[in-house]
Amino acid sequence: MITPALRSQLLQEARQVLERAYAPYSHFRVGAALLTRQGGIFSGANVENASYGLTLCAERAAVAQAVAAEGPGLEIRALAVVSESQAPCPPCGACRQVILEFGRKARIIFTGPAGPVEMDLEALLPAGFQLPVPPRRTA
Ligand code: THU
Repeated sequence: MITPALRSQLLQEARQVLERAYAPYSHFRVGAALLTRQGGIFSGANVENASYGLTLCAERAAVAQAVAAEGPGLEIRALAVVSESQAPCPPCGACRQVILEFGRKARIIFTGPAGPVEMDLEALLPAGFQLPVPPRRTA
C-alpha cells in the first residue's frame, strides 16, 4: 500500500517532469514518477520522434532512469502517470509489460476526470508475459 503522502509526492514529481516532455507531434505531454523498494523516486517524460513509432513513453523513460540509478535489482513499488488531458491516462499496454518486469506487485496511479485512480498492475495486466526461466539479476 502507498501512503497518501507518497502518492502526492509521486503525482507532484510526475507533473513537474511533464513540463519537460518532448511532444511536438501529438502535443500530448505525459509525465511519470516511480517509487522503488529502496525508497528512490525517478521520473520520466515522453520523448517523441519524427519517425513516430520510435516514441518513448514517459513510464518507460522513468524505468530507464531507475535502472541506471539502482541497477538490475530494481523493484518498483508504485508508479504515477499524469497527462494534461482530463481523460484517464493509464499506462499503455507496452508500458504495463515493462513495469511488470520490475514490479509485479506495483501500485499504479493515474489521473482521471474525477481525480487520481489507483490500481494494481496485476489488475491492469492480468496475464503479462514472463519467461519460464526467471531473470538472473547480476550486475
Ligand atoms: N504516452 C505516454 O507517454 N504514456 C502512455 O502511457 C500513453 C502514451 C505518450 C506517447 C506519445 O508521445 C503521446 O503520449 C501520445 O500517444
